[in-house]
Amino acid sequence: MVSQSSSANADTHIRPVISATGLYTPTDVITNEELVESFNAFVERENAANAGAIEVGETEALQPSSVGFIEKASGIKARHVVDKEAILDPAIMAPRYRERGNDELSLMAEIGVAACREALAMAGRDPEDVDAVLCAASNMQRPYPAMAIEIQQALGTDGFAFDMNVACSSATFGIQTAADYVRAGHARSVLVVSPEITSGHLNWRDRDSHFIFGDVATAVLVERADMAPAEHWDILGTRLKTVFSNNIRNNFGFLNRAHPETVGAADKLFVQEGRKVFKEVVPMVAEMILSEAERLGIDPTSLRRLWLHQANAGMNRLIAQRVLGHEASEDESPTVLDSYGNTSSAGSIIAFHRHRADLAHGDTGLVCSFGAGYSVGAVFLRKVGA
Ligand code: COA
Repeated sequence: MVSQSSSANADTHIRPVISATGLYTPTDVITNEELVESFNAFVERENAANAGAIEVGETEALQPSSVGFIEKASGIKARHVVDKEAILDPAIMAPRYRERGNDELSLMAEIGVAACREALAMAGRDPEDVDAVLCAASNMQRPYPAMAIEIQQALGTDGFAFDMNVACSSATFGIQTAADYVRAGHARSVLVVSPEITSGHLNWRDRDSHFIFGDVATAVLVERADMAPAEHWDILGTRLKTVFSNNIRNNFGFLNRAHPETVGAADKLFVQEGRKVFKEVVPMVAEMILSEAERLGIDPTSLRRLWLHQANAGMNRLIAQRVLGHEASEDESPTVLDSYGNTSSAGSIIAFHRHRADLAHGDTGLVCSFGAGYSVGAVFLRKVGA
C-alpha cells in the first residue's frame, strides 16, 4: 500500500492552482437501446450457431442484455464513442479505426490536443508558456514515443512531456504530480491531458460490462498562482492512495506474444468483479476523503460540490452521503455518467468542467477519482474570482 499527500505552499508565487480545463466529446452517441439491440442480435447469432452444442449441454447459451438492468445497476443511459458503426455491428462489436501513418497525428493525440487547446484558450495561455505535458490515461495507443510528447509537439509547448497510467485515477494523480512540479519550481504551467479511448479495451461482447465505458478527452491546466487568470481554483490539498486488487484487471501487454495460445482471450480486455469493486471501494474512498479533509482543516459538510468519479450512480450516492452527512442533491454531486458512461480517469474532470461555473468566490469542492489498482485520488479546491 502506498499513501501520499501534500498541501498548498504558503508562498503565493509557487502555489499551484487550476487555471482552466478543456473537454473533447466525440459526436457519435450509442444509447442503451442501440447497444442492447446489437448485443442481443449477437447473442441470437451465437446461440443459433452453437445450437447443437447448447442442446447437448456442451456449452451454455448466451443470455441477452437489458436496458432496464443497465440503467438500474449503473445509471448509464448513453455513451459517446469515436466511431459507433463497427461497435454496433453484431458481426464485429469492436471499434474499427483507420491505421494512421507515422507522419500523421495519432488518434489519441488528436483528441487530447483538442481538449488541451480548449484549456489553453480558457486560460488565455500561449502554448510556449507551458513547461510540461502529462498524458495521464488508462490506455496508451502505443508504448513509445510517449503520447504526451506527440501532444507536446502538436501544441507547440516547451519543456518536457511523459505518459502516466494509474487507470481511473490517472487524472487526479496527474494533477498532484503537476502541482508538485509547480511547488518544486520544476515547471510553471503544466497540462494534464486524459484522452480516454475506452472503446478499444472494452469487451463489447461481454454482457457484464458491455455497457460501461465511453470515449472522451479532458485537459487540466495546473499553474503557479501568480501567472493564473483572475478566476481560478486554489488547490487546497491532494491525496493519493493505492491498494493492489485483481477485481479490475486487463492482461493486455507486450509479453502476450510470449504465450501466443492466449492472445485474444477475454482477459486481454477489461474484466471486473463489479459487485466486489462496489463494496470495497466505497468505504475506502469515503474514509480517505474524510481523513484528508480533517488533515486540511476542512469541514467536509461545508464542501459546496463533489465532482466524483463517474462509474456508478449508486456508488456516488453512498460516498457523497458519507462525506456530506446527508443525501446529496444533483447540485451537490452532479452526474455525467448518464450521458458519458464511465470515461475512466476523465469522468470526474468532465463533471468539474461542466458543473463549476455557478460556484461563487470562496466556495470549496472536491474532485475525486477511484478505480483499478485500486487507485484513489482526491483534489480539494477553492474558487478564486467571480
Ligand atoms: N443485462 C441483464 N442482466 C445482467 C446484465 C445485463 N447486461 N449483466 C449482468 N446481469 C445479471 C447478472 O447475470 C446477475 O444475475 P443473477 O442475479 O441472476 O446472477 C444480475 O444481473 C446482477 O449482476 P451483477 O454483476 O451482480 O450486477 P451489479 O448489480 O453488481 O451491477 C455493475 C454491475 C458493473 C454495474 C456494478 O457492479 C458496478 O458498477 N460496480 C462498480 C464498478 C466500478 O466502479 N468499476 C470501476 C471501473 S473502472
